Amino acid sequence: MATSSNFMDMAKLAPTLPLERRCPPFPLRQFRGFWMPEGLFPALETIHSRFQTRPSDIFLACFPKSGTTWLKALGFATVNRREHPPSGEDHPLRLHGPHDCVKFFEPSIAAAGGSEDVFAAFPSPRLLSTHIPYSLLPEHITADSSGCRIVYVCRDPKDTLVSSWLFSKKASAAGNVELLKPASYTINEALELFCDGRCVTGPQWRHVVEYWEESQRRPEKVLFLRYEDMLREPARNVKKLADFIGYPFSGEEEAAGVVDAIVELCSFDHLRSLEVNKTGVLEVGFTIGNKSFFRKGVAGDWINYISPEMAAKLDGVVGEALRGSGFRF
Ligand code: A3P
Repeated sequence: MATSSNFMDMAKLAPTLPLERRCPPFPLRQFRGFWMPEGLFPALETIHSRFQTRPSDIFLACFPKSGTTWLKALGFATVNRREHPPSGEDHPLRLHGPHDCVKFFEPSIAAAGGSEDVFAAFPSPRLLSTHIPYSLLPEHITADSSGCRIVYVCRDPKDTLVSSWLFSKKASAAGNVELLKPASYTINEALELFCDGRCVTGPQWRHVVEYWEESQRRPEKVLFLRYEDMLREPARNVKKLADFIGYPFSGEEEAAGVVDAIVELCSFDHLRSLEVNKTGVLEVGFTIGNKSFFRKGVAGDWINYISPEMAAKLDGVVGEALRGSGFRF
């Protein structure tokens, strides 16, 4: 477990850490086994040393390209359903992208120059979305006494790889000069790097297994969901999410179709069809179209991008790394 004192000089420490520049869109630095975007180290320092958590904070955590956008939409719609009924024409999710309704935690702090005040004025309960690995979170989030809850979504590594490869190419073409723009970044290169754990917040399997282990140890504080289960049984997973974060659906709400309305509001097809998600843009240290977050939204699309041999290689690396952990994708 990382103690906050280890993070006091993160901004100064970052340039001394191993560097990886082959994984667009960000240069990565390896810290405690994870490849973290270099630009986020000042934010990590802030989060550890100055950020004030509230017992009601709810962290929505994912490895990148594993369902962050969907989880944000579902969490926001669930928590705010009294003020904003999901079938309402003017629901915020119909007018703003999910990433505007629930902000990214560490990138927002980084974009504010490391200021701890970014979320200070947000009403409770705050929904905060993070890609930070569990072992790099501060104790004031992870300690039982903090009261904070964490919802994690995991996804099959092969689909995560493909989604991430396609997204990274779009992101690095976004036009900002500070983003990495490698001359070549084929799926073969992305696979090799991914298998070596070299990708944003990688290794992916270690990111996943840390949250899974914590969900086993402290199920009342960490809820572990799977993207593929959510696709199969969205209503069941929304109810699980609502129960866990302390916003359970009443019998009347269920009978009135509120759960189904949230599922529909947040469905891939619906969100993707909205004007704001077709033409809007997101600022997260770089500018990217909201539409980049809605590609296909299915399980198993990897088959269209990587060969059975490549899939077997990744499955082998992941299987080996997870041996003895008790976790299986
Ligand atoms: P694909 O690229 O496989 O289509 P993240 O939100 O963590 O960036 O992950 C993006 C992945 O989630 C993309 O996967 C995207 O299409 C998918 N996605 C986005 N919104 C979704 C939704 N409402 N339901 C299901 N999948 C969604």
